[in-house]
Amino acid sequence: ERPVRMKLPEFERNERLRHVIFSGQFSVPMLEDLAGTADKIRILSKMREGQDFLIRLLNHKRAMLYFTQPSTRTFLSFMAACQILGITCNEVRDPTTSSETKGETRFDSLRMFSSYFDLIIMRSKLARLAESCAYLMNDLEASGNRSVPIINAGSGSDEHPTQALLDIYTLQRTFQFSRPQDSPAATRFDELRRDYPDLTKGLSDKVYGFCGDIGRGRTVRSLASLLGNYEGVTLIFIAPDDPTLSLREDLRQRLADRGVRTIEVQSFDEQVGGIPVIEQLDALYMTRIQKEHNQASDDAQFAALDLSRYKLNLELVGRMKRYAPILHPFPRDQHFGEIPSEIDNDPRAVYFRQARNGMWIRAALLASIFGVDHQISRFFHEE
Ligand code: CP
Repeated sequence: ERPVRMKLPEFERNERLRHVIFSGQFSVPMLEDLAGTADKIRILSKMREGQDFLIRLLNHKRAMLYFTQPSTRTFLSFMAACQILGITCNEVRDPTTSSETKGETRFDSLRMFSSYFDLIIMRSKLARLAESCAYLMNDLEASGNRSVPIINAGSGSDEHPTQALLDIYTLQRTFQFSRPQDSPAATRFDELRRDYPDLTKGLSDKVYGFCGDIGRGRTVRSLASLLGNYEGVTLIFIAPDDPTLSLREDLRQRLADRGVRTIEVQSFDEQVGGIPVIEQLDALYMTRIQKEHNQASDDAQFAALDLSRYKLNLELVGRMKRYAPILHPFPRDQHFGEIPSEIDNDPRAVYFRQARNGMWIRAALLASIFGVDHQISRFFHEE
């Protein structure tokens, strides 16, 4: 087990992240900086002059998107983020089209990508492949060879750090940011501020619920680690009493070592401090049951569980706090139905906005890695 560190010096250079492999590399100030840059990119993208400025920032860079595991949001939002900043993209998604079918190792493939591209964004079903590739790049650099940054876009059931960045950015926009401008949203915001004066005091001192496949959810693991950076948070994990689906011991221990308050329950109705869990959440993070990771024995094991407890419905949503956002990394599973579509129109359902936030925060991350975030700030201040 890797020791917990806020930053991994070997993945940094000149006080900037060089590779993005774990969510534990990010501190609260870094998250604030990224959110600020993402907001500026969002605003600049609405203006022709701003778009023209952004697209020239990195139009001398090329990115390889090496996604050998299925993806819709991460792949497309990284591609869109690259396009916003002028980065040219290419992709390998189907390994049968690469020379790995002729016996080439993944490390040789990666080194080839680094010959042609300035950045590798990779998703793999292998838990620590991105980490190994980052070390490979560091070794190449140390021996005087060409080396490029690696971004982990999802590694097995281990980590999905950039998903956690967009989840945090979505929570920041809920709990930290100023009054929206459009009138229905502004009216609702004013009402909520009146009833809940602490609403916009940030991500600290809040209760976050995670529901579903906690054990195998890499997005849960990455986000729980990041939320542990904030003072006074409580993380409530709502999952079956099952060794595969419940909180894994390594994450439980890691959070405990950092003094993060965690609670594990098996249903939304279970009481904590005399109040049902669903009624005390400041935010709820739903996940699907990740059947793609099932072992042969899992189907029979899961059939004995009451998984219907891990689905949201209108009655449960009606009991949630009026401001509590409902997040989901998506995809949601239409067959399991952890979030039925009738919830989509509730103002607390932020999962589509959350996915769009991924494009802005990933653009901010790319700007930070290539050191052009200060140029974005300067342009903004000159406006
Ligand atoms: N949330 C997420 O990682 O979605 P994709 O698998 O579609 O990229």
